[in-house]
Amino acid sequence: MTQQDQNQLMETAKTIADQFKLPENGYLQKTVEEYVKQSLHGLAHQDPVGIPMLPSFVSSMPTGKEKGTFLALDLGGTNFRVCLVKLLGNSKHTIDQIKEAVNPEIMASDMKTFISHLGDRIVSFLEIYYQSFLEQCAHDPESTPELKAGFTFSFPLHQTAVNRGTLIRWTKGYSINDAVGKDILQALQQELDSRGLRLHLTAVINDTVGTLLTRSYSKPVGCGPTIIGCIFGTGTNGAYSEPLANITKLGAEELAHVAPGKDSMVINTEWGAFDNALKVIPNCKYDKLLDANTPNPGFHMFEKRVSGMFLGELLRIIMVELHDAGLLFTTNEALEALKYPSPAHAKDGKTQNALRVPWSMNTAVPATLDGESNNNNNNNNNNNDDFTHSRKIMYEHLGFEPNQDELAALSVIACAIGKRAAYLSAVPLAGAVLHSRALERFDTIDVGADGSVIEHYPRFQEMIFEALEQTELGSKGVARITMGIAKDGSGVGAALCALEAEGCL
Ligand code: GLC
Repeated sequence: MTQQDQNQLMETAKTIADQFKLPENGYLQKTVEEYVKQSLHGLAHQDPVGIPMLPSFVSSMPTGKEKGTFLALDLGGTNFRVCLVKLLGNSKHTIDQIKEAVNPEIMASDMKTFISHLGDRIVSFLEIYYQSFLEQCAHDPESTPELKAGFTFSFPLHQTAVNRGTLIRWTKGYSINDAVGKDILQALQQELDSRGLRLHLTAVINDTVGTLLTRSYSKPVGCGPTIIGCIFGTGTNGAYSEPLANITKLGAEELAHVAPGKDSMVINTEWGAFDNALKVIPNCKYDKLLDANTPNPGFHMFEKRVSGMFLGELLRIIMVELHDAGLLFTTNEALEALKYPSPAHAKDGKTQNALRVPWSMNTAVPATLDGESNNNNNNNNNNNDDFTHSRKIMYEHLGFEPNQDELAALSVIACAIGKRAAYLSAVPLAGAVLHSRALERFDTIDVGADGSVIEHYPRFQEMIFEALEQTELGSKGVARITMGIAKDGSGVGAALCALEAEGCL
């Protein structure tokens, strides 16, 4: 690469990075206010394009003393997990589980194939971890005690009770069209019954609700009450507790399914759908290109700027543009490698190099570039950057190692994508804290979080807190907020909600 090419690449990368910069001067607070406004609308109306603000019919929070053994099912944007969770009653649990990525064919199949796939996975789990239960179901079903199960289903459900909910729409990568409008829990129950399994699905919850319950169950002594459960993973979303009186869209029939004596209910906000109309959230050229190629264009627009399914894809789209402009991957080695499927994808039978395959670029790619670039900046070592891991992950994705200048330019873009994602993530968090007025009631409050981005994207949580300080919460408010990972949030949450469904929480 000549010096001139290097300069041109870096200049172009900086111009692209600028498109991911959020405006200054009160932008975050203004966006928080818009979030609160849109979420209040969602509590009062069922608006198909607004923030759904979905009632969960979960009204109790665990104390950490709960006990019991439950089967927990957990379907997310990437994996389906089947777990046996034992709540030990001292804020601790044990978990046996199998986890498998749901393959793209299933994600785009039909309801029958999908439900039967879930049934197969449950049987595989029982064969490994609970063979005696399977045998008893086969030989003496009448005397087999029913095993209670909770289902964490991480997609928007219109719930009318803790065990009733129809799918509103798919998000993330799913498109099983005939499942929309159907009650997933009931369909799975029928499948399990038809297989003669003595499993009783007593509750269905969102992963954010599971995270909220799990963090309440397991948080360290001394933390304030957990008021939000949130996910920054393949998708993003949050749940918090709202007084029933404010959920004015609930009808008398639905209110009849609220546990007696309760005056609040956990709301699954589905904040991924914040500002679908793009009043305040950014919408640069690359956001538009990305959205056009999703199964749900125009929906979950906030999520498409924040979560793990999308950050790698944004970078891939930009790489394609830079390559087509003759600025990136121009060496003979790169040009040759780009003719073939890359190592990570060759085994999937992909015939193209991952550069040209939509959704093939894992968010680990920008995360690694971002992490190494931050290390480099901290070491003030810009000319001798150590992109060791970036080189490796790029090799896995593309089949060659980009050169130092290319990695430096791409890291500038990755940092911009990551920072925008983390700063935007602060918006609904600040919105929920301010709207709940929790800081007026408690000295400190706690947030439970889960998901691959918050766990693995370098400095993601730190950047969220930086951004929170720029909202009305200020540094004093933010100092009174703790955030912790809710380990096994979806699995333990499913067990806790199965307990709640029995009226034991
Ligand atoms: C998507 C889903 C939502 C889920 C989130 C995190 O936004 O619609 O239900 O909680 O991803 O997994």
